[in-house]
Amino acid sequence: MWLKSQILLLYCIASEVWTAKQLDSRRNFPRGFYSVEDGNSAKWNRLKRSLYQGRSCRVRGCCTGRDDDCSFNIVSKAAVCYCDQFCTSGSPGPVDCCADYWDVCDHPVEPTRSDEPWLPPASGCYKDGRFYGEGTIIKDNCNSCKCFQSLWKCSKEVCLVRQDLIQHINSGDYGWKADNYSQFWGMTVEEGFKKRLGTFPPSHSLLNMREAPVNSLPEEKFPAFFAATYAWPEWIHDPLDQRNCGASWAFSTASVAADRIAIHSEGEITDNLSAQNLISCDTRNQHGCNGGSIEGAWRYLKTHGVVSYACYPSFWNDHLEPSGENHCYVSSEIGKNYTNGPCPNALEESNRLYRCASHYRVSSKETDIMKEIMEKGPVQAIMKVYEDFFLYKEGIYRHSQKAGSKWKTHSVKLLGWGALADKNGQKQKFWIAANSWGKSWGENGYFRILRGQNECDIEKLILATSG
Ligand SMILES: *[C@@H]1O[C@H](CO)[C@@H](O)[C@H](O)[C@H]1NC(C)=O
Ligand SMILES: *[C@@H]1O[C@H](CO)[C@@H](O)[C@H](O)[C@H]1NC(C)=O
Ligand SMILES: *[C@@H]1O[C@H](CO)[C@@H](O)[C@H](O)[C@H]1NC(C)=O
Repeated sequence: MWLKSQILLLYCIASEVWTAKQLDSRRNFPRGFYSVEDGNSAKWNRLKRSLYQGRSCRVRGCCTGRDDDCSFNIVSKAAVCYCDQFCTSGSPGPVDCCADYWDVCDHPVEPTRSDEPWLPPASGCYKDGRFYGEGTIIKDNCNSCKCFQSLWKCSKEVCLVRQDLIQHINSGDYGWKADNYSQFWGMTVEEGFKKRLGTFPPSHSLLNMREAPVNSLPEEKFPAFFAATYAWPEWIHDPLDQRNCGASWAFSTASVAADRIAIHSEGEITDNLSAQNLISCDTRNQHGCNGGSIEGAWRYLKTHGVVSYACYPSFWNDHLEPSGENHCYVSSEIGKNYTNGPCPNALEESNRLYRCASHYRVSSKETDIMKEIMEKGPVQAIMKVYEDFFLYKEGIYRHSQKAGSKWKTHSVKLLGWGALADKNGQKQKFWIAANSWGKSWGENGYFRILRGQNECDIEKLILATSG
């Protein structure tokens, strides 16, 4: 309910903004920040500012509703401010109200013009109606801004959470909804790509890997809906959380391998596998939290094997000295079924190593992927991640052009499929996939993505192991 009403609210805001733009471009000044002066201010403006700076509404008076004339030209073209109630209706912050709007107008009682003597600050900047002294540095999402000679000087990074993109997606017809995630707030798109993905683009040899032979089935042989979590409720592992560690190569592989081993062993082995074991120990041509290849991960799982999550939990190294961060805390010898020492997590006794068979490539044909999942369990898929994917909240994801053309490779777990009619009655087919951004992201850590059109390359390279 909360989400629905929030989406409705965002929609209302978006349409209001649109209407406002149609009517009048008056609110088209740069949002968020404005300065009390610009570099070219003329003498008259200086004089006017010294008279009125910061006390516009007190001088102009407050107006109810929307009244475009209830405005005040502080100094420059970028600094028209308003004293009408409408100025507070914008989003994200009420930014085009005059600086003293809240003091003067935001009271139930009628404001009165004040004749008290008032000393304007010599210089400084405003944001969201608040005054900041010269030299103040504040953070605005992923950018830092410094008040310099009464002007905000901000870095110009593109932020991972962009309100305009969220609004664009939620008011458009994309079939999915976007949301602001506090874990991404303050990050740049570059940081998102670096810290939240971390799968190397597939090598030539991987792309040329032959697909396993399969007796294809026609689509009507498949159920309309399938989810591995329903087919093998006890054996499918939940979505993981890689946090700010760019190691989706390890998380997606550990997750698919754990499911496959559980299914193959018919429930005899259901342990979670340790992604940290891969991150810290599979270091040959792999770069831990700075990225790695899924191929390398599968090879390591086959030759060395990994311990359980309980034995070597994710981020276990984090509490150690920086020097221990990249250290491998389990040692395995080829052929041994147990590590040479106790678990890093002393509370866990079993230092058993889990191995799986060689990885193989599944055909990219939609129904062949479905057959593989239905018969043998979840598979690993790579995908292109564009910046809008970070904002995914629910629905059937497809890349929106508005989110630009920059992308990076990620890897995820495909575990089912389904179809739904969209609001025009068109059938929308989707995959069900598990991401590794925690359960607060997307649909409980899962997402749905368009099926059958190789959306974001999701069907391009599918890997699995027999267990
Ligand atoms: C997004 O979330 C962060 C952290 O919860 C919050 O500070 C920020 O104001 C939100 N931004 C928008 C545009 O809603
Ligand atoms: C796997 O780990 C999660 C915590 O990440 C835990 O909730 C779950 O019970 C574990 N499952 C198994 C089978 O050990
Ligand atoms: C390791 O486990 C496998 C399968 O359970 C078994 O066949 C093999 O003999 C074990 N190896 C050793 C050295 O114990």
